Amino acid sequence: MKHKNIDEIKKLESLPKIIKLFSDQEIKNISELYNSLPVTVHNQKQNIIKKRWLQNYSKSLDTMYISKLKEVLGEFKMDNFKSEKGEDFFGLFHESFSPLKLHVDSGFEEKDIIFKQVVTPLSPIGETVIFKNRWYGKSTSFTIDADELKFKPGPGQNERSREHLGTEEFDKTIYKKYLTHIDINNLKGLKVELVYQWKVGETLIMDRSHIHCSSSKIVNKKLGLTTFTKKK
Ligand SMILES: [Fe+2]
Repeated sequence: MKHKNIDEIKKLESLPKIIKLFSDQEIKNISELYNSLPVTVHNQKQNIIKKRWLQNYSKSLDTMYISKLKEVLGEFKMDNFKSEKGEDFFGLFHESFSPLKLHVDSGFEEKDIIFKQVVTPLSPIGETVIFKNRWYGKSTSFTIDADELKFKPGPGQNERSREHLGTEEFDKTIYKKYLTHIDINNLKGLKVELVYQWKVGETLIMDRSHIHCSSSKIVNKKLGLTTFTKKK
């Protein structure tokens, strides 16, 4: 799959930005919501626990979250899957114990105009590495492993690809500092746009077309909330 409206997607693109969107109390309320939600996925292989932000646990928190996102994004639609009742999930909480590898969260519908992803750290130690390189196909995990490339994704699962690769060797200094959990040959042709060092109280806003991953630094665990949006 390739997105149909790439020109419109590109018009909405901007550099990643870090802002203060939520008060300390709001961050605390979001963390408490996380604790009260049921576990959706416990992926042993990726060593990650995911929970979805289900609506109506706290109406006031739901309202606050949407209005804050609107303040910074303008008009948008949620794109985080829906409940059986057809209600949007407001985001995905991800608690990871080992660093996430190279991927893109560019969505699953070719007609969608994908927009920003909003990442709010809920634990203090962690880093997100955002590459300048972009991807306009489906949500994809990038790999050069031949077996991994054979993986056939089900609905809502990332494709596997090596089409992100360029020819230029990846910067060794940056590699040693941040990316030792990834094969350096899987980073050929990639250039770093930003390494975001997580700080509770901040929010990262970035285009969904950016290829990204975690850095190799995880102390105990990393907990964050990500909301995926589209324009239409
Ligand atoms: Fe991601």
